[in-house]
Amino acid sequence: MPQFAIEVNKKNYTVEADADMPLLWVLRDLLNLTGTKYGCGVASCGACTVMLDGEAAFACQRPISKCVGKKITTIEGLSEDGSHPVQKAWQKASVPQCGYCQPGQMMAAAALLEKNKKPSEEEIKEAMNENLCRCGTYHRIQEAIHYAIDEINQ
Ligand code: FES
Ligand code: FES
Repeated sequence: MPQFAIEVNKKNYTVEADADMPLLWVLRDLLNLTGTKYGCGVASCGACTVMLDGEAAFACQRPISKCVGKKITTIEGLSEDGSHPVQKAWQKASVPQCGYCQPGQMMAAAALLEKNKKPSEEEIKEAMNENLCRCGTYHRIQEAIHYAIDEINQ
């Protein structure tokens, strides 16, 4: 089995996996980072969203062989103490209902705010467009993103 050296949440790991194993399964099954969720497996829900070099990416669609040399950030890597503006904003707006989609939603929002500290409504909509929530928490997600924008720009 080939080995791959990857960086996840600023830590270095070497994993043994098939080259086409999706990053999602490496995170969950090999590294026990289970915050990243499996929803559809076919790029249709966003539950598995992580950051690759600061860009939102679906972990179910990224073979591990293509993740070497990239900085991978998962929901566990936003901050350990809940101090990331997105974490604080999600708490302030009491966003989650069942919670299943929320790690992906938060990572999509964090990726947006990493490259654009003052996104327009249109830019927010576009960045969050592929992240589905069966519980319909969209309104609170929007509210939370605005809380995070306020904190980042104060
Ligand atoms: S599990 Fe990856 S997009 Fe749905
Ligand atoms: S909070 Fe339940 S799917 Fe989004």
